[in-house]
Amino acid sequence: MATRREMLAGGLKTAASLALARTTINSTLLAQVAQHPDDMTLNSAPRQQTFPPPDFGLIPAMLPKEAKAVAGVESLKAHAAQHQLISGAAVVVHLLENDPALAELIVDQCGILVPESELKWCALRPTQYAFDFSQADALFAFAEKHQMLVRGHTLVWHNSVPDWLIAAPATLDVRGLLVGHINTVMGRYRVRVHSWDVVNEAILPKDAIPGGLRKSFWYERVGADYIDLAYNTAREADPKAKLTYNDYGVEYDNVEDEERRRAILELLRGMQSRRVPLDAVGIQSHIKAASPSTIGKGLADYIEAIRAMKLEVYLTELDVNEDDIASNEVAERDRLVAQTYKDFLGVALNNAAVKLVLTWGISDRRTWLNDGPTHHRKQPNRPQRSLPFDPEYRPTPAFFAMRSSFDRRSVKKQTDGNV
Ligand code: XIL
Repeated sequence: MATRREMLAGGLKTAASLALARTTINSTLLAQVAQHPDDMTLNSAPRQQTFPPPDFGLIPAMLPKEAKAVAGVESLKAHAAQHQLISGAAVVVHLLENDPALAELIVDQCGILVPESELKWCALRPTQYAFDFSQADALFAFAEKHQMLVRGHTLVWHNSVPDWLIAAPATLDVRGLLVGHINTVMGRYRVRVHSWDVVNEAILPKDAIPGGLRKSFWYERVGADYIDLAYNTAREADPKAKLTYNDYGVEYDNVEDEERRRAILELLRGMQSRRVPLDAVGIQSHIKAASPSTIGKGLADYIEAIRAMKLEVYLTELDVNEDDIASNEVAERDRLVAQTYKDFLGVALNNAAVKLVLTWGISDRRTWLNDGPTHHRKQPNRPQRSLPFDPEYRPTPAFFAMRSSFDRRSVKKQTDGNV
């Protein structure tokens, strides 16, 4: 029979799947993953990936003293607040509910939460006619109890389209379904959401569609105006939420990211010229510890271009993939990961338009980077050390790098309500 720990590990339901977790990941499976220079941060991995998560053993019974030592005035959220920032993390709701130490860590460190998956179509829409809000409701209840903000993620994403919708007949009114979905979901949490990622990852230049749009389910079934439709609907459904466009692959000084930045800015300018409501742009910030590319002018100019459009900027899904680090030494890996946080935040926070910083998870006990072969091709059996807390909830060098990056921020306080 599965123990409680086994039930909790990464959402796996049976001890049988965990037995599989302990076996070496088979090389044929890895070979099936498409080769792409940026695969480790691209979000095109098939949804069906079912890699078992690493087994970290029992969840900590309580927060270690190292974690308590960085609570209160020493926390990420306290340091962020001193520099006109709100900081937080993504959470998996059922893990939070079953792990009191994790819940305490989240409360200590976060001013804002976002659910990893619980507000996506696949979680909310078991069938065409039913909604399941149980997990999302639990997250809002937790956040409100602890006076934390919540981000909504996400209403339109190519990677979370339920199987029943993909299989639906061509006659189904997908446009009407999308409008209904946005109204129902945003309506339920109206005025309780800081910002909504209305559309996520709409740009993919290699699909060769005008404007660099991705040839997604939504593009094909609703039409090229699906983005405008989603934002217009969203503004009416919840006039208080900051409507955000969220995307990845804009962080590096390389040709591919430059093309993506250009296409995203073109999309944003087009939306503004058509008077489509938009308040903010999310930079996912899935970065790598051993990237051959630098982080610098490309990102700085991109953020400045967004500021010039009077939009806010949010770092929405920050984490550091360290799969490319050859050394197996934990101290060396942690040092390089921390340096990567520092390099990225040194550039990204140097603009007053940036208001939020969220990591995609808080502890290495749960990171999507351990989910599938896409994110750890080189070190498939080495759990990633990517987040500010280790699997035992002790702060890592990444935590201290984040905190001192917040402290180094020197942007003028905004008084005009915008940037
Ligand atoms: C990921 C979640 O972390 C996983 O648990 C899920 O299986 C797939 O989605 N970019 C995004 C997020 O915008 O929604 C993705 O989250 C990570 C990449």
